[in-house]
Amino acid sequence: MIDLEKLESEFAELYQHQPQLFKAPGRVNLIGEHTDHDEGFVLPMAIEQNVYVAAGLNPNNSTKRIIRVKSINLNSSAEINLDQAFSKKNNWTDYIEGVARILEQKGFRLNSTDLLINSDIPQGAGVSSSAALEVAVGRALTEINRQPIETTKLALIGQQTEHKFIGVNCGIMDQLTSAIGLEHHAILIDCHTLENQPIPIDFNEVEIVITDSGVKHELASSEYNNRRQDCKDGLKILQQFFPNIEWLHELTYAEFKLYENRLPEPIVRRCRHVITENERTKQAAGFLSKKDYQSFGDLMWQSHESLKNDYEVSCYELDLLVDLARQRTDIVYGSRMFGGGFGGSTVTLVKKNHAAEFREFINENFKRK
Ligand code: GLA
Repeated sequence: MIDLEKLESEFAELYQHQPQLFKAPGRVNLIGEHTDHDEGFVLPMAIEQNVYVAAGLNPNNSTKRIIRVKSINLNSSAEINLDQAFSKKNNWTDYIEGVARILEQKGFRLNSTDLLINSDIPQGAGVSSSAALEVAVGRALTEINRQPIETTKLALIGQQTEHKFIGVNCGIMDQLTSAIGLEHHAILIDCHTLENQPIPIDFNEVEIVITDSGVKHELASSEYNNRRQDCKDGLKILQQFFPNIEWLHELTYAEFKLYENRLPEPIVRRCRHVITENERTKQAAGFLSKKDYQSFGDLMWQSHESLKNDYEVSCYELDLLVDLARQRTDIVYGSRMFGGGFGGSTVTLVKKNHAAEFREFINENFKRK
């Protein structure tokens, strides 16, 4: 937990004026993995941990347009001059500068703003600390400069930051979940229209456990873009047989099967994952609404197998965590890796009051292996 009063007083001491506070949460994805870049369905939810931003206009600097920013977590500071050209620093400040520059490209006019950032979202665990940073900073910059922004647009600005300033061609899931996430609800997002539907989770019946494999997802950005390209290549071939489709998820699995032998390896498996995962996600949303956690869990196991064998973004440690969970179906409904892959975390749907027991079981057996 972050001490918000302390954040405010540290801001006042550092910049000599009073801040306003903003926040944005990290996310876990229950199901619908690697479907957002195909503009399919995802079913994520916000987590309790947030990026917090204390922000205020710099009262002493009206001529130059400079963002002063400090990260408490990293104990690092920077100044960004908005009237000078961008130069990539390959560090955390690229996210801040990216958001500010994209806002300006979209017609926002930012004045000198001071930011102090603190976060309790673990980094590198696959729970979208970067997306939360983008959303929290975007929210702070627009509010402080009195140019409020609609949540969907805010999410798109975060996504553009990843594409243009970080070099990851990610989908919209992480930023949109961070921007619209609700307590005690998963959100079914149609990544094509960006329509979203909150689905309540009954925490009297289930608990959700996130398990960090401890493996940093370093391969994630290059392999992420490669997988995305495989899907595009597959789509092109399939469009010869289905000229009216624009996205893979428009095909049912039955339709895909008719022509899958026309696709080369590994493209055929990449496409199969996206198509089956999209079907699973829509089905899973129905099960969640009906509180059918058993059927929901079955789809989680299937999702993991598909990510492991077809999309090939899992790793030994993530598979081990899911295999261990599979040994405890007395208390576990389902478990799977989530996020970009090659490390990060698993999400496990556990029967109510069994999270602690599950955690103990995993701790003991994971370390032993
Ligand atoms: C990362 C990306 C998301 C999404 C997931 C995989 O988290 O940022 O857009 O593609 O991977 O589902």
